[in-house]
Amino acid sequence: MTNTTGPASAQPIRVALLGCGVVGSQVARMIESRSDDVAARVGRRVELAGIAVAHPDRPRQGLDSRLFTDDPTGLVNRDDIDIVIELIGGIDPARQLLTAALEKGHSVVTANKALLATHGTELHAVAEDHGVDLYYEAAVAGAIPIVRPLRESLVGDQITRVMGIVNGTTNYILDQMTTTGAGFDDALAQAQAKGYAEADPTADVEGYDAAAKAALLSTLAFHTRMRGDQVYREGITAITREDIAAARDMDCVIKLLAVCQASPDGISARVHPALVPAAHPLGGVSGAFNAVFVEAREAGHLMFLGPGAGGSPTASAVMGDLVTVARNLVRGVAGPPQDVYGEFPILPIAEVHTRFHLRLQVRDEPGVLAEVAKIFASHGVSLQTVQQSAVEGNDRVDGWSATLKILTHEARECDVKECVDELTGHHYVNSDPRVIRVEGM
Ligand code: HSE
Repeated sequence: MTNTTGPASAQPIRVALLGCGVVGSQVARMIESRSDDVAARVGRRVELAGIAVAHPDRPRQGLDSRLFTDDPTGLVNRDDIDIVIELIGGIDPARQLLTAALEKGHSVVTANKALLATHGTELHAVAEDHGVDLYYEAAVAGAIPIVRPLRESLVGDQITRVMGIVNGTTNYILDQMTTTGAGFDDALAQAQAKGYAEADPTADVEGYDAAAKAALLSTLAFHTRMRGDQVYREGITAITREDIAAARDMDCVIKLLAVCQASPDGISARVHPALVPAAHPLGGVSGAFNAVFVEAREAGHLMFLGPGAGGSPTASAVMGDLVTVARNLVRGVAGPPQDVYGEFPILPIAEVHTRFHLRLQVRDEPGVLAEVAKIFASHGVSLQTVQQSAVEGNDRVDGWSATLKILTHEARECDVKECVDELTGHHYVNSDPRVIRVEGM
């Protein structure tokens, strides 16, 4: 419902759109089709001034062909622009275009996590120097409001941990492996057939996309600059059916998690597959959905869940930023600056504390369990549960007949790594131990 008497007849706010793909075309259509509501909410009309694309002559249904240009630099440098929305992705030329836009005094809305996770601090500084806004809700977890809750709603609290399923492609693949018994390659092929995974799935399955998002979440949560390359990263390509089955035995599922954590010594951010209890809020996140679980000192535990990608959901987040930035313009204010006063040390993965699940095949002989336990004890790693399943009779293969499944208490990563190094190649131990971190237990 629209109150058409609302907005003043002042000059409209003019928007330059860079990119008109799946998300950009949806944003352009929403600016056009929701113009009365947007005007009512902002207090002035908001209109498209131009759209920069690689192929301006291509027909685009419902959009005025005169808006299109193949000159993004010319577009961002126009004097009649107020806000630039960047949806082209990648580092270059997005970085140069947004720097030029901010220097020209235009506010910016972007979904570009790779750019912000690499050059966010410089871009925020330019925005602050010129008194304009840089908003990026769509850069993390698509439609899910998480940037603004961390930047504004929870800014009076103290966040201790943020755990996110922030990549829908890998969540879909792991969910398929869990629910259908598919192996990684088949599940990836299904994700590609459904359009979730790219032809080159590296950015998703190797965790680069999630690491960029983890850097943004960590910077917001702990008020300390974190770049994507400072996030420890492991992908999901090595996850096997056996890992999925071992998780099920523990009433867990395997998720690719982004974990941003504050500890007395510093902060850390990491992306890796983890065992999560099926009963944990993150354990129930299925298909290509995203979710972010926030632990705050006063607020307690908060769960944000929803679609993390796709044209309409991501466009919703972009439109939220556009309306917010336009409102700020009307009121002659800028939103909160990037606030990175914390400067906490960033801990290497070796110093991170969490729990671990280990699986190893050992000889079923007297003293083996004691020997394995001694190795953990010598590195100060405490075991919570140890389960041995031994194979009897004809199934025994050369005496390699017992599988040990171990769950540690919280332990330092480097201590567990030393245990694993010592167990690997030990004469009682057959294969390299399989190690998966455990979160949310
Ligand atoms: N490729 C991402 C995903 C969406 O699968 O969640 C964009 O970040």
